[in-house]
Amino acid sequence: MIDLTGKLALVTGGSRGIGRATAVRLAEAGADVVINFVTSQSAAAEVAAEVQRLGRRSATVKADVSEPEDVAAMIDFIGDQFGRLDILVSNAASGGFRTLLDAQPQHLDAAMHTNVLPLITLAQAARGLLVRDQGQDRAKIVALSSHGSRLGLPAYGLIGASKAALESIIRQLAYELGNDGVNCNVVLAGLVATDSTKHLPGAEEMFAAVQKQMLTGERPLTADDVADAVLFLSSPLSDLVQGATLVVDGGVSVRG
Ligand SMILES: NC(=O)c1ccc[n+]([C@@H]2O[C@H](COP(=O)([O-])OP(=O)(O)OC[C@H]3O[C@@H](n4cnc5c(N)ncnc54)[C@H](OP(=O)(O)O)[C@@H]3O)[C@@H](O)[C@H]2O)c1
Repeated sequence: MIDLTGKLALVTGGSRGIGRATAVRLAEAGADVVINFVTSQSAAAEVAAEVQRLGRRSATVKADVSEPEDVAAMIDFIGDQFGRLDILVSNAASGGFRTLLDAQPQHLDAAMHTNVLPLITLAQAARGLLVRDQGQDRAKIVALSSHGSRLGLPAYGLIGASKAALESIIRQLAYELGNDGVNCNVVLAGLVATDSTKHLPGAEEMFAAVQKQMLTGERPLTADDVADAVLFLSSPLSDLVQGATLVVDGGVSVRG
């Protein structure tokens, strides 16, 4: 039912974890996919090869999304090589787990520069490729958030604040771009086992506790489950979903 044939997607942080699963999901639905990475060149190349095996075009782009010049160069590359951009998944983020009481100003700067600023610089740089006339297929921006945007979690204050800002910025982007043919939405994911959660303090206990709170049976939440939600928000099925946050957590947050 979802057919993204002919569309071009960019997934930031597409080399690993949720970004990798998303890149593959979008390709399975027909999209060509550009994989952004910052350090994991060979992992990104593997994802691009997987996208190509599915019969889609792909490329890898090294860009530190916290650097506006890198973001601008990446979007220029996409314009030159593909001539379009239909789906922008702002997924890349980095850890920096620490308590607020131990945080220094540079730690807040780092969290905001990596997790928040890219949403703005990507939207600015890609605006010319994303905006559409009435009646044309809509473009999609999807950003990844977490429960830390709303809940207190151990050593998560900086990242949580960055995710809260990101959810606000998505709503503002929806306000600024919505009538120019662009949908801007968030997928808020529950806890998923990826490289990033390996560094989460108390991860093992947290996974065990979350598993007990889920309202969808015993299957743990996976990167593929999150990718499915991103796929929905990247597709025409969500054309009337605007400025929203879609929670994918097996119902954990229902319990409050
Ligand atoms: N895992 C969870 O439980 C969970 C829950 C809710 C939300 N999320 C969100 O989902 C997203 C992905 O998380 P994940 O767990 O899949 O992370 P991950 O496995 O640690 O992967 C992070 C990805 O981001 C890239 N990246 C990091 N800093 C970057 C930078 N400055 N420039 C460009 N790329 C950069 C990495 O590239 P390299 O491989 O090149 O280093 C990698 O591809 C994040 O926004 C995260 O906050 C995760």
